[in-house]
Amino acid sequence: MTTEEFTPTAAPLAEKLLGSAQEILARYPAGRERSALLPLLHLVQTEEGYVSPAGVAFCAEVLGINKAQVGAVATFYTMYKRRPTGEYLVSVCTNTLCNVMGGQAVYDRLTEHLGVGHDETTADGKITLEHAECLAACDYAPVVTVNYDFTVDQATPDSAVELVDKLAAGERPTPARGARICSLKEMQYQLAGFADPRDGAVGDGVAGAPTLRGVRLAQEHGVAVAGFDPETPITKTKPAREAGALPTPAPAAKADEKADKTAEEKPGRVASVVKAATTAVKAVAGKVEERRHAGQKTEDPQIRTAELRNPTASEPARPGAEAGSPPPANAAEAAGAATSPPAGDGKPAGDSPRTPDPTRGSEEEK
Ligand code: FES
Repeated sequence: MTTEEFTPTAAPLAEKLLGSAQEILARYPAGRERSALLPLLHLVQTEEGYVSPAGVAFCAEVLGINKAQVGAVATFYTMYKRRPTGEYLVSVCTNTLCNVMGGQAVYDRLTEHLGVGHDETTADGKITLEHAECLAACDYAPVVTVNYDFTVDQATPDSAVELVDKLAAGERPTPARGARICSLKEMQYQLAGFADPRDGAVGDGVAGAPTLRGVRLAQEHGVAVAGFDPETPITKTKPAREAGALPTPAPAAKADEKADKTAEEKPGRVASVVKAATTAVKAVAGKVEERRHAGQKTEDPQIRTAELRNPTASEPARPGAEAGSPPPANAAEAAGAATSPPAGDGKPAGDSPRTPDPTRGSEEEK
């Protein structure tokens, strides 16, 4: 594809981004390029800071899909912005734990100080503020990120105001941990899957004390995962699984035996809870089996739940039924199952051939 093949709406972006877009597409197997939509949307944001109508057109034309399909994805994920965004996206977590620890107070103070609300940008175009759902750093609650990097841990209203004042003044303060602060457009380049060669662009290091607090407590109480070393460095490049370094999971059949053994070997509160839970699960499973063989129904809510979740646990799969799927309950379900092959063919559900609707006329008329 060349830049001349784009519509006038998409052509200006194609001039700048087509080379990078083709690099992204080359990462996907032939015929599966549409899966590149997520990094392509980040790529579009490297230029415009948000997914503009031109960005939607560019993605659609590169991938050979329609703009509605691009729009459906771009409007689903909050990391794709729908209007121009500031140089720095300041996200304040106001989810459960951060909220309990003062996240809402931090957000409210920033709102007041910057004069903007959620998803709004300051008049100088420097800062966009948003309140965010869990940012996966509950151990450092409340947290504030700048362009998705952890910048202020255990934030207070004052420390958050100090941060935005520095950003507004053109500084790039040193973050609490992780990589150095970059602009939102620079971050989008990394999110599109390209290495950022700047010094300090990628953060590294061992997990901090709040993250390891649970492990330490477990060790103090004699509960630990065998062989786990909390000082284990975080893998920098390829996941350990690729190198075959991860232990092979224990066979499912031995899980109960292992849980019993662990509980016996690790006396203490946690071990008691594990043992009690294992015993309770076994007791419920035993009751379900007894009832099933006796052909009885039960009103016990635990047993009813177990039966509903796994109604065919003790029965062989029925001919034509998918393993683990309950058989159709009636003729309508059976007809639906016959026309909708199960997932697992590698295609999005929307790619299944559609049965023509006789009430809607021919494809040509649409
Ligand atoms: S609740 Fe804020 S990071 Fe998890």
